[in-house]
Amino acid sequence: MTTTYETLTGDQIVELCRRHTLFEWSAQAAVDPIPVARAKGIYFWTPEDKRFIDFNSQLMCVNIGHGDERVIRAIQEQAAILAYANPFMATEARAKLSVKLAELCPGDIDCFFFTNGGAEANENALRIARMFTGRHKIAARYRTYHGGTAGALTLTGDPRRWASEPGIPGVIRIPDFYHGIQRGSDTTEEVLARTEEVLQLEGPQTVAAIIVEPVVGTNGILIPPDGYMQGLRALCDKYGILLIADEVMAGFGRTGEWFSVDHWKVEPDLISMAKGLTSAYVQLGAVGMSRKIADHFEKNVFYGGLTYNSHPLACAAALATIAVYEEDNLIENARKMGTVMRGMLEDLKQRHPSVGATRNIGLFGIVELVRNPETREPMAPFNGSSPEMQALGKHFREHGLYTFVRWNTFFTNPPLCITEAELAEAFAIIDKGLEITDRAVS
Ligand SMILES: Cc1ncc(COP(=O)(O)O)c(C=O)c1O
Repeated sequence: MTTTYETLTGDQIVELCRRHTLFEWSAQAAVDPIPVARAKGIYFWTPEDKRFIDFNSQLMCVNIGHGDERVIRAIQEQAAILAYANPFMATEARAKLSVKLAELCPGDIDCFFFTNGGAEANENALRIARMFTGRHKIAARYRTYHGGTAGALTLTGDPRRWASEPGIPGVIRIPDFYHGIQRGSDTTEEVLARTEEVLQLEGPQTVAAIIVEPVVGTNGILIPPDGYMQGLRALCDKYGILLIADEVMAGFGRTGEWFSVDHWKVEPDLISMAKGLTSAYVQLGAVGMSRKIADHFEKNVFYGGLTYNSHPLACAAALATIAVYEEDNLIENARKMGTVMRGMLEDLKQRHPSVGATRNIGLFGIVELVRNPETREPMAPFNGSSPEMQALGKHFREHGLYTFVRWNTFFTNPPLCITEAELAEAFAIIDKGLEITDRAVS
């Protein structure tokens, strides 16, 4: 029997999606998706017109905000002219986007391989690093996420990796500087010394690349201590190892710079990007490489390919999205509103005993909740939840605030076009919600 509906209600959408599709990273019985019908600016609406503030830019990706007419028009125009050409062809959208990205990227990164998203960007980054250096090991950290495909998931340190093990061979772990709300952070000197020790034990001549999220995203908005990124660069130079910056989440203005490495003026050899590249209007990722790596592939075959590599629709969407960042000064707005948001986060910390720590860089922010301000016991365990965190999530949902609630944390990652008044609107909902977690504080 075929079921057809004129227009589906929110409940019908949820029921059919639940019955006939798999939701990510979840036992399906536990998922409770919000039905989404339309979106504009920092808001989205359900089919029944309940409005939400999108305080996570969906998956930290709709950086320019929803429904921007300029990007929509560019997609429509490209679709009308040439929706697709295979990746052995050369198109105007591909040409123009690569020139623009070369202008924006740090150092002499001026050559790009386009993918469907961030995981594929990292898959190709690790493959390029291996082909270029002739070495096979890739060093990555624990508190990080690099994507859901085999190689990227092996690079991923967080628990999303566990079910897919064993992953690809050759991935080694270097230390994190952050150890959770109770143990805090190592100094730059400590973490770099331990990193070098791991490299020496592994044999640095066997290590092709170190991959890091310069500012870690889902694993806690971890902003490196001063000197860390420069120190990693120096270690890479010392041992002939490539530095891969995974800017999939932190790139495109999220932190108040085009790329988060720009805060430390560090030039990676490879840079992966996705999400904000098109603000998710169309799916697109890319890995950018320095000139010396690009030159290597003049004579040597680049063994990699994707049917949708350099998809014209996605390249046109990216070009239009980048124009929006520039026209609307969104990088600057992220910086300015980031300062405003820091004030709001600090205010929460002053007034709510359950707020153990807040961190933000630009509009990339997080709140860590604790049960006890002295012991700093987290409000939920590592990789777990708690009734209080669930109740907080419920409060956000009931009051029309969408954001990620993960373990003992929740995120503050709005679109970069947000205004001070809109930030205040979101923080008023958060402020009230924290009364729930405050009640659990002993
Ligand atoms: C830092 C980082 N790298 C890679 C990825 C994977 O990107 P995608 O989901 O587009 O494959 C993500 C996704 O959240 C990410 O945050």
